[in-house]
Amino acid sequence: MTEKETATLSFRGESYELGVLPASLGPDVIDIRRLYADADAFTYDPGFTATASTKSAITYIDGDKGVLLYRGYPIDQLAEQGDFLETCYLLLHGELPTHQQRRAFDKKIIYHTMLHEQMYKFYNGFRRDAHPMAVMVAVVGALSAFYHDSTDINDENQREIATMRLISKMPTIAAMAYKYSIGQPFIYPRNDLSFAGNFLNMCFAVPTEEFKPNPILTRAMDRIFTLHADHEQNASTSTVRLAGSSGANPFACIAAGIASLWGPAHGGANEAALSMLEEIGGPENIPEYIARAKDKNDSFRLMGFGHRVYKNFDPRAKIMQKTAHEVLAELGVKDDPVLETAKQLEQVALSDPYFIERKLYPNIDFYSGITLRALGFPPSMFTVLFAVARTVGWIAQWKEMMNDPKQKIGRPRQLYTGPTERDYVPEGNR
Ligand code: CMC
Repeated sequence: MTEKETATLSFRGESYELGVLPASLGPDVIDIRRLYADADAFTYDPGFTATASTKSAITYIDGDKGVLLYRGYPIDQLAEQGDFLETCYLLLHGELPTHQQRRAFDKKIIYHTMLHEQMYKFYNGFRRDAHPMAVMVAVVGALSAFYHDSTDINDENQREIATMRLISKMPTIAAMAYKYSIGQPFIYPRNDLSFAGNFLNMCFAVPTEEFKPNPILTRAMDRIFTLHADHEQNASTSTVRLAGSSGANPFACIAAGIASLWGPAHGGANEAALSMLEEIGGPENIPEYIARAKDKNDSFRLMGFGHRVYKNFDPRAKIMQKTAHEVLAELGVKDDPVLETAKQLEQVALSDPYFIERKLYPNIDFYSGITLRALGFPPSMFTVLFAVARTVGWIAQWKEMMNDPKQKIGRPRQLYTGPTERDYVPEGNR
């Protein structure tokens, strides 16, 4: 029998043996669960930079090598050889589907694409200039007010239906948020189209003329969905898990994830990256913005650069860059100042010691903004598209948590630095 590995902690004259949990890939984990009971101490790790908040068998990232695997399969192989719905099946079930499994899965997804008719009226309550992410948070949260037959988290069948509903309705909800913002009529889903084709149709078709989704652009849209489908325990996924750990229903949990994704340090970065490129205006202004990004007294950062985990090229960014070029070639986009600024900014940042030393490479959001803009989406929709794609990752992670018999409510502790106990002072004596 091999001896179990342990780690030893010396603290205030005592020694504590801590177990080590083996990972199938990546760093093993020191098990500190008994630390508070045994040593009366907490650990301190704001931002979870060295803390595994959960066990998971879904997605693996090696940020130093630039590796991203969904259930063991490299992201580039899935994005280039597979498609989004196949990836959804893989993330949810752990294996790629057989032909029959795939057909059955597609049928289930297609069955749920429409929204409850009353939900259409919901949109009229929003201002036309509302940010579509605000609409997404509200409408997805409201799903739990419409689909009462899939909110019982203890019923496996209801969990399954909620999963299908979320993946399937998210494009419809997102496209409606877009149509509402531009004052065009909602377009109902079409089940004869692919997942991505249906989404483009709901966004860009109008009742007055026929719209045929372009196969190259549809493939690009599908690839964007695949690239964003999951990303381990990032802020929004951790938010979904934390919300779910209290027993909240899946629609509420996904609404929480959307709220977390909205921030510019996370999913909002694609919108922020494009706004930044537009603000820079042209290659001649790049040096000024590079200087600002390096200036510690200036809060400006190069949006679309850097990543908490990737300290090498983001593997998604490589495929996204290629997809961007395919889309721009198909659409015949040339002499675009935003594109020219992006190309030159990338070169300047990749050769600047500030960015090299800090391992700040362009991330997926740098290229996805350019691609989505070329596809015809306004920047305010970029994070919405990220949410459409990430829904499967959130729900797969939520289900994994719900199926874990050791699952308990997430309840971080703190290092208290406030006042010690003191007596109340009546207002007249303060
Ligand atoms: N521009 C300029 N400097 C930067 C940038 C940037 N984009 N990102 C990090 N730095 C600097 C930072 O100032 C710090 O420098 P120093 O060590 O001298 O103080 C160093 O690099 C490390 O930064 P950090 O803030 O400690 O790194 P982090 O891991 O906490 O932050 C990040 C990661 C993604 C929030 C950050 O790189 C960032 O704000 N990037 C821009 C926003 C962005 O593109 N986000 C999308 C991430 S990918 C999509 C997703 O997964 O959601």
